[in-house]
Amino acid sequence: MTIKTNELPFKPEQPAKADIPTLPIDLNEHTITDIVHQCNARSSDVRLKEVMASLVQHLHNFAREVKLSEAEWMAALLFLTEVGQICSPVRQEFILLSDILGLSALVDSQAKKVPQGATEPTILGPFQTSDATEINLGESIASEGKGEYMYVEGTVKGLDGQPIEGALIETWETDAEGFYDVQYDGRTKADCRGRIRSGPGGVYNFRAVRPVPYPIPSDGPVGKLLQRLGRHVFRPAHLHLQITAPGFAPLTTALYFEGDDFLYSDAVFGVKTSLVLELKQIHDPSRAKELGFIRNEEPFWLCHYDLVLPTVQEAEEARQSQQPQSS
Ligand SMILES: [Fe+2]
Repeated sequence: MTIKTNELPFKPEQPAKADIPTLPIDLNEHTITDIVHQCNARSSDVRLKEVMASLVQHLHNFAREVKLSEAEWMAALLFLTEVGQICSPVRQEFILLSDILGLSALVDSQAKKVPQGATEPTILGPFQTSDATEINLGESIASEGKGEYMYVEGTVKGLDGQPIEGALIETWETDAEGFYDVQYDGRTKADCRGRIRSGPGGVYNFRAVRPVPYPIPSDGPVGKLLQRLGRHVFRPAHLHLQITAPGFAPLTTALYFEGDDFLYSDAVFGVKTSLVLELKQIHDPSRAKELGFIRNEEPFWLCHYDLVLPTVQEAEEARQSQQPQSS
């Protein structure tokens, strides 16, 4: 901490003597855990207490189990420091770390159990931004020249089969180089991302480019870790979708494509069978022209997927019914 000569650093008020606990000292690796539990048990936040008790228990057990050395402990702290330092408004290395550890996929599947028949969720990833522009049905989310043409279409419906009109679909994808727009220096506006509202009959459609497999950002500490673990850094090609509609449970998901080399070794464990579809290549210049593709002599890929959203109540009932029974 740097202290300027003319000001004092922040100094919290000393607790009243009666509030200062008297805890055992002379702790060792076997007694420390209980004492930390006792300290944390004074919190009035019940959930925080529960989470911290488990975290401390597992963390201490882990350190005891692997006999964590001081050098390793320091290496871990420096690693986490580096993870924090590389984060920026458009780069979230902590999400990436959570992703490659499988924690994001675990939390996601635990939190978002959906009823039978509803579209499955999958991980958000670190590349969503808040500046995607809203486009009309049929328009393009990608600027010209960003990749092979792809037309995305389908419907948004409830579990009862009723169409959901006016659902907001936010989507984002890589270009043909395998990069999201935020990975380019000098980005001035959103590209290969957009927001679309489903129309009558729950229909949605928009023009895009065919996303390609891409390496997760591997020039930072998480990439170095994967290298040391002997893991590749690639994700299969996918199209991110986030759907919200009044009265329905919000859905964060992504569509994957059959035949992708990385479908069964996704660096961040996001693939689900129900989200894998067959991309059909269509060579029909007049249809391409009608859909608005400029290079309409070229074939385009058709990505068709129907989205099914449970209502908030249906989603909550599914979550409740799938809770593990406490013994
Ligand atoms: Fe992604």
